[in-house]
Amino acid sequence: MTRAKQSIHGSWSSRLAFVLAATGSAVGLGNIWKFPYIAGEHGGGAFVLVYLACIAVIGIPIMMAEVMLGRRGRQSPINSMRTLAAEAGASRYWSWLGWAGVLAGFLILSYYSVIAGWALAYAFRAVGGTFTGATADGVASIFERLTGDPERLMGWHTLFMVMTMIVVARGVRGGLERAVKFLVPSLFVLLLLLDGYAMASGAFDQGLAFLFRADFAKIDANGVLIAMGHAFFTLSLGMGAIMVYGSYLPARASIAKSTITIALLDTLVALLAGMAIFPIVFVNGMEPGAGPGLIFQTLPIAFGHMPGGQVFGTLFFVLLVFAAWTSSISLIEPAVAWLVENRAMSRVRASVITGLTTWLFGLLTVFSFNIWSEFRPLSFVSVFRNATVFDLLDYLTANIMLPLGGFAIAVFSVWVMKRPDSVQELALGDGWAYRLWRVLVRYVTPVAVVIIFLNVTGLVDFSGFLGLSE
Ligand code: PFF
Repeated sequence: MTRAKQSIHGSWSSRLAFVLAATGSAVGLGNIWKFPYIAGEHGGGAFVLVYLACIAVIGIPIMMAEVMLGRRGRQSPINSMRTLAAEAGASRYWSWLGWAGVLAGFLILSYYSVIAGWALAYAFRAVGGTFTGATADGVASIFERLTGDPERLMGWHTLFMVMTMIVVARGVRGGLERAVKFLVPSLFVLLLLLDGYAMASGAFDQGLAFLFRADFAKIDANGVLIAMGHAFFTLSLGMGAIMVYGSYLPARASIAKSTITIALLDTLVALLAGMAIFPIVFVNGMEPGAGPGLIFQTLPIAFGHMPGGQVFGTLFFVLLVFAAWTSSISLIEPAVAWLVENRAMSRVRASVITGLTTWLFGLLTVFSFNIWSEFRPLSFVSVFRNATVFDLLDYLTANIMLPLGGFAIAVFSVWVMKRPDSVQELALGDGWAYRLWRVLVRYVTPVAVVIIFLNVTGLVDFSGFLGLSE
């Protein structure tokens, strides 16, 4: 078998650069914006526990598998899957997995960019001192005014998509590596600062209890699916983003070590965010289940009252934009890499085409917060009774497409790919670490995904088995 040592798109300068870039992809709106509000909507502790379990037994092994496939394939996910399937003597239709990933990335970015636009808008509000001394009601009305105005949302969404296109156009090293080196550490510092504020708020214990005291009566089958979907979403798994980053990984770097570091950092950021937000929610008498506006309606109160809040608030939202930025580029990188490989396009052209299409589709999300906010396309399905277009896009991608992608990645890595190939690529030897990985990917992941899916469709009821109430 011939195998290119390097991708035509270039490679990371070191393992550390890969870890930073993949952490940049993983840490994003999912950790700071989404995790707190979905944990809030699904009752806290039990949801968090299921999510943590999914990270450990599904997320980490699948991430290893994805990096492994990328590094061995050395191309965009679509072409890597085709090459690897040929290597294993399997059907070339495995490249469809790459296509499904491109579609998922496109759909996710279309709404991700709109939410990142909120963060941009808030960074400007914070600089201008809008939050100083703000009350919960005041902050809520700032949020409603922003999301209720389609033109403003469209403006911020446009700005964010342009930012994304610029970095993707500049390529792997020039664009990506530089940004993440300073982003991740600074984000940690600011989250710790917010945790300090939350600790002094008087409701820290209540926040912690909400986040960590598991009451399984509060979570249902759909909540379990959402926790699993979020494990995929937050680690950027199941759609080729981590695969394409793996394709730029130097040949000798350890996949297992990198993956564990990335997953730990990602989880830490989510938990720090939750620990900052819930005390603020409780002390201000707000609802943990407030939905997508949760952090935009809580954190400004904290910044409005802490010394130096104007500076810290600005920094926080700027960093949130950066975190979203380093994730958004990984959402379109699989599509861009394919266009460069198969259509002989320049990176610039490929980025502009992908970016513009995504931008256009993003208007659906923009409108679902204002002129279409009453539009419930699937109101006849009970779980989607109140779901707007944005809610549906989010549900379809995170809870269905990513777990299915992860399922297929698992099946391919251990049932289709030859064992000696994965032994060689993971370079763990053939000892307990490799075997543990293999068992998890071979049985645990696929079975868990299937059980959780079946359970939520109601076709099979495993609730008693899972110890859940329904
Ligand atoms: N992991 C990102 C976050 O938590 O915000 C979102 C994401 C990026 C999902 C890239 C999927 C992906 F491929």
